[in-house]
Amino acid sequence: MDQNSTYTLSNGVKIPVIGFGTWQSPNGEVATSAVKAALEMGYRHIDTASAYGNEESVGAGLLASGVPRGEVFLTSKLWNKDHGYDETLAAFDLTLARMKVKYLDLYLIHWPIPMERRTDWKDSLLGTWNAMIKLYKDGRIRAIGVSNCRPHHIEHLVRNTSVVPMVNQIEYHPGFWQKYVVDFCKELGMQIQAWSPMAQGRVFHLPLLKELSEKYNKSIAQICIRWELQKGVNPLPKSVTPARIAENFNVFDFTISDDDIAKIDALPESGATGYDPDHFIYAS
Ligand SMILES: NC(=O)c1ccc[n+]([C@@H]2O[C@H](COP(=O)([O-])OP(=O)(O)OC[C@H]3O[C@@H](n4cnc5c(N)ncnc54)[C@H](OP(=O)(O)O)[C@@H]3O)[C@@H](O)[C@H]2O)c1
Repeated sequence: MDQNSTYTLSNGVKIPVIGFGTWQSPNGEVATSAVKAALEMGYRHIDTASAYGNEESVGAGLLASGVPRGEVFLTSKLWNKDHGYDETLAAFDLTLARMKVKYLDLYLIHWPIPMERRTDWKDSLLGTWNAMIKLYKDGRIRAIGVSNCRPHHIEHLVRNTSVVPMVNQIEYHPGFWQKYVVDFCKELGMQIQAWSPMAQGRVFHLPLLKELSEKYNKSIAQICIRWELQKGVNPLPKSVTPARIAENFNVFDFTISDDDIAKIDALPESGATGYDPDHFIYAS
């Protein structure tokens, strides 16, 4: 595995094994510079979302980097207020316009159940998914998927459309990696993406990770990202700091032993840093 390595999604589309996260990268110069720097360092996969409010800057960073659009795997996500068939189609157009691109490589439903849809989430989620399928069939997205979904959300989509999402992007880091969700998705041939792959720094104090950092002469961030890669998962490390952007991509010159992978797997459950997908508490 190296910096150019890819996973293959169930529809044959190739996705670079590390994606560059952009949540909390403020719209404007900061996000633009971060995306440009990442692409200049060799990242070829960028993850954003309508809710991050920085799609314009992500698109600007892509342009400024000079890397051809066709060489970059670009993901965005549909926000909660836009659930529903017509709403999804309209939101997708706005996302493309903000990023100044003609297509997306991956479009995800950000959360399965917006607060306003608690009582009718099944109809609402299905309408959203049917719009994603249309956009995919129209050739405007190369792959479609979900985020923060548990098995019962995915089962509902598959039972009613027979279209299995190609990706589930979930919270995944040492201490919280949702094995039951991962096993379910793998069974269906779905790729797992790891959001907050370093738990936003909350795992940096763990003694085991400190010990492995010294053993492999790598930072704890690099240990996390490498562990995710060896688990077959697609980490999306975020940084706006050039040295860290480089560090997080420099994880291909060492291998964590099977024994040490098992030790990280067995770390006690830390709990989620994010919201419970069945009880999302944000109003849109
Ligand atoms: N689908 C979803 O619901 C969802 C939810 C959350 C996140 N995501 C995606 O996943 C991406 C990653 O998740 P995240 O941003 O929550 O967390 P993360 O990547 O685990 O951590 C990001 C934080 O760690 C710092 N950091 C980055 N590299 C570091 C290093 N090498 N050493 C020390 N600190 C480092 C960053 O600081 P600086 O930036 O200041 O350098 C930032 O504060 C997001 O950006 C987003 O694209 C998706």
